[in-house]
Amino acid sequence: MNQRELVALARGAAEGSYSPYSGFRVGAVVVGTDGEVFTGANVENASYPSGTCAEANAINTAVAQGVRQIDTVVVACVDASSTDSAYPCGRCRQIMSEFGVERVTVTAGEGSEIREHRFAELLPHDFGPADLP
Ligand code: THU
Repeated sequence: MNQRELVALARGAAEGSYSPYSGFRVGAVVVGTDGEVFTGANVENASYPSGTCAEANAINTAVAQGVRQIDTVVVACVDASSTDSAYPCGRCRQIMSEFGVERVTVTAGEGSEIREHRFAELLPHDFGPADLP
């Protein structure tokens, strides 16, 4: 799948968002190093801290299907006012680190800018599995 298709898939995945509290729908796509593709959306909870981000849900789905190394994560915050307000939170960046994410594509809704980053730009000097003795 090319970048345009992955972004369309991530924006479409945001349709599955359960976000009655924030009204902020997010979709995510994970591409494993063997090319497998998984999607996720944010799922909120009346007990607010129990909600989960779209990226975390997509990554956990991929991992539960056997993926251990992730090439790309695409995140689409379709209700964000611009791509500047669509970046993954710190917790999701840490989850990405665990599975060796190489590239992160960030975008908002239809027609918004699409930005591709090396993961290290988003979380430099990350702490990961290789850092444990
Ligand atoms: N959210 C995500 O799912 N991913 C992001 O990259 C940013 C924030 C969700 C969490 C919560 O459901 C809502 O967006 C507002 O913070």
